Amino acid sequence: MAGTRRARTKGRGALSPTAHPTRVLLVGFMGSGKSTTGRRLARLLDWAFTDMDEEVEREAGHSIPEIFEMHGEEAFRTLEAAAAARLLDREGAVIASGGGWPCAAGRLDDVPEGTLSVWLRVSAEEAVSRTRQRAELRPLLAVTDPLARARELLEAREPFYRSADWVVDTDDSTSESVAEEIARRLKEAG
Ligand code: S3P
Repeated sequence: MAGTRRARTKGRGALSPTAHPTRVLLVGFMGSGKSTTGRRLARLLDWAFTDMDEEVEREAGHSIPEIFEMHGEEAFRTLEAAAAARLLDREGAVIASGGGWPCAAGRLDDVPEGTLSVWLRVSAEEAVSRTRQRAELRPLLAVTDPLARARELLEAREPFYRSADWVVDTDDSTSESVAEEIARRLKEAG
């Protein structure tokens, strides 16, 4: 698989996130495959899988496009932050974050100890091609020129995603091989 990967530990206390993580947090842009990869990875690790977007929808009783339409992005971000706080104390869990959640100062540095964050990197072109079929599900890309929007958002977001512990390129990989790669590296690190 064509993957550039890096592993590093951060100073978050005695437990290095790459040594014995108790949860894996998948981050990355829309279309990077967080949910599909997360489900597969959870199966490989025999851990539970949770999706931050689904948690927001469950709690709000509305779909994400409905939340954006009725209350706007800011209200969605508040719900998303609350969902993340609930999910990030779970043990033995693979958590797929929403694409925008890590993109606030300190977010990925302040995750609880034992969290291994993995950035699933995708190009703007690939992200748009993967999400085109069901564009209405992603309000931020439901615009006249989704590619220009994706490029703009990615440029602003990459510095945040870059704070993840590991990065895996996904443009030329299936979610299956990305999940296998993460599971293999976890085994090696563990
Ligand atoms: C968003 C990504 C979406 C969802 C919402 C906003 C973003 O999640 O949280 O539409 O800001 O990038 P996915 O990355 O799972 O599509």
